[in-house]
Amino acid sequence: MGLLQSLLVHANRWHSVRSYEALVARKRRKHRGDPDMAMMASIGSLSREEFIRQGDGHVAVLVHHGLRDGMSVYDLGCGSGRTALALQRSGWRGTYKGADIVRSLVTYLKTKCLGYDAVVHRDLSIAAPSNSLDMVFHWSVFTHLYPEECYIYMEDIFRALKPGGKMVFSFLELEDENHHSIFQRRLAQFRRRGWSATLDTFLHRDWIRFWAQDIGFADVMFTDGSDASAHPQFWQGLAVMTKPA
Ligand SMILES: C[S@@+](CC[C@H](N)C(=O)[O-])C[C@H]1O[C@@H](n2cnc3c(N)ncnc32)[C@H](O)[C@@H]1O
Repeated sequence: MGLLQSLLVHANRWHSVRSYEALVARKRRKHRGDPDMAMMASIGSLSREEFIRQGDGHVAVLVHHGLRDGMSVYDLGCGSGRTALALQRSGWRGTYKGADIVRSLVTYLKTKCLGYDAVVHRDLSIAAPSNSLDMVFHWSVFTHLYPEECYIYMEDIFRALKPGGKMVFSFLELEDENHHSIFQRRLAQFRRRGWSATLDTFLHRDWIRFWAQDIGFADVMFTDGSDASAHPQFWQGLAVMTKPA
């Protein structure tokens, strides 16, 4: 790869770094007197109560899909620790590693969740050895990536999972009418100024199923964002798949 081409690849790879760092900077300015609120707002929570309720909901989803004490889990796009804090509140005992592209979020998580590992990692890969993780989860991360980037992450998640390990993640889908408002907001931004500050990607279940099969995952399952039968409603759709044993 020539120099120009590798510079272009690098610049594009960092689209989410640029947009997320800008978003976090905006939230820190807005909540100048309340650094905790700035960190919560940076990952989309509108209040402390919401941050806690959503985190507890994340843990309920993980428990429903097999989270047990003693497991090794990886929180891709861990943000400021909404799930990590909830895992600690729940009393879960296991090995947690978070990874995010924004340093201030990772630093915040590490100061709040003593004993949990978290790293700044800006490659489309998992910072863990092959066959080492019981669960990889990511909430509202593929929602900010290009579909091709999602596929590349999925390939590396497959590598890092133990046989029998699971990936659980949330995504936006136009089939869910609750998600239409996000698309409409983006549409308005594109009409008004021709671009949108952050990427909000909508995925399709048949794409996810196709990618999963292509990569080697099995037992692909989906839950509607409005489904509260096994855990609190997630709002985004949920996908779960297993690396065959
Ligand atoms: C909506 S927030 C969700 C944070 C966390 N998953 C949670 O639910 O609390 C999206 C997170 O994804 C991170 N992110 C964006 N692009 C990423 C990428 N390419 N790789 C890993 N994380 C990314 C952002 O920095 C941000 O922390």
